[in-house]
Amino acid sequence: MWVFGIRGRSGFSSNNTAEDVTKGIDGTGLTAIITGSTNGIGLETARVLALRGVHVIMAVRNVRAGEKVKAELLAKMPDAKIDVMALDLNSQSSIRKFVELYISSSLPLNILVNNAGINAPPFTLSEDGIEQQFAVNHLGPFLLTNLLLDTMKNTANESGIEGRIVNVGSALHAYGYKEGIRFDKINDEESYNPTDAFGQSKLCTMLHTLELARRLKEEGINITANSLHPGIVATNNMKNHGTLNKFMLVAGKLVFKNVQQGASTTCFVALNPKVKGVSGEYFMGNNLKHIKATTSMAKDPELAKKLWDFSINLTQPQAQNQIQAQLQPN
Ligand SMILES: NC(=O)c1ccc[n+]([C@@H]2O[C@H](COP(=O)([O-])OP(=O)(O)OC[C@H]3O[C@@H](n4cnc5c(N)ncnc54)[C@H](OP(=O)(O)O)[C@@H]3O)[C@@H](O)[C@H]2O)c1
Repeated sequence: MWVFGIRGRSGFSSNNTAEDVTKGIDGTGLTAIITGSTNGIGLETARVLALRGVHVIMAVRNVRAGEKVKAELLAKMPDAKIDVMALDLNSQSSIRKFVELYISSSLPLNILVNNAGINAPPFTLSEDGIEQQFAVNHLGPFLLTNLLLDTMKNTANESGIEGRIVNVGSALHAYGYKEGIRFDKINDEESYNPTDAFGQSKLCTMLHTLELARRLKEEGINITANSLHPGIVATNNMKNHGTLNKFMLVAGKLVFKNVQQGASTTCFVALNPKVKGVSGEYFMGNNLKHIKATTSMAKDPELAKKLWDFSINLTQPQAQNQIQAQLQPN
């Protein structure tokens, strides 16, 4: 458990929990999708948003695990509204199927938490033939968000309540490949470095948020988009790091944030009224970190536009057969 913390302007510090930062907030009537909510930060986010009355849609790749988690949560919170839906961010067809089902359910959507992520696996291609960290940590959430945007806009218009898109990033966005995003080498197995590719994917999260927020503002849409670093949290996220993972799960539990603290910034950005109207920003430790304080690449509007166009191109259904050719160096 993380014990240090200086209270910031929000009145909270990095050792506050998700329950602390949402205390007294009534989320009844709101609906949130949380990706990767079977364990870790996503599970705690789902639990606390449901505790506050939000109708939580757990978007998970393992539906059986999701149903088990749902049953456990309902046993402790019988009045909670929780549903489980299948979503594999490693597959664009799964993302499209999820959104089709969601739209056909006619549910509103106030909050989208893009939480699911993988950390430093060996080089692997997604179902669509794209390097997996770029696909799961960036392209999947990018496509999911774009496909859900009309539903979120309708909800915001009809309810008059600000919609919120919360992208769970990482401070490691500053420690990827030195070129930042290697547009022409995404699928280059030879020069692939698992931790640099993780940093690259989280730099994409920062830039996705920046350009999305700019577009939402430009169109005058009542939806905000923000990114955040949850802190170093003892979860399964480091399972590809061998010894470091063992350390995280044993000693890390005593030193680093527990999930209650690890999910706090996500819940703060998703639900707390203090964040109203703030968009295109970066949060850490339950406070505004300021996009200005990040690296030059993470706040570069031109790079953000370039990534947006690149990502649109890679998520067109008809582009699938050209993807591999585009991502390999010549
Ligand atoms: N823990 C940290 O110290 C830390 C630090 C910085 C940033 N973060 C970020 O925080 C977020 C949550 O991480 P965590 O620490 O809670 O890790 P975690 O315990 O490993 O949880 C990750 C979640 O993502 C899901 N997921 C993985 N691949 C997916 C896919 N293809 N489609 C749908 N869901 C998928 C996992 O589902 P399965 O259970 O099916 O694998 C799991 O529910 C991630 O974005 C991570 O990068 C974490």
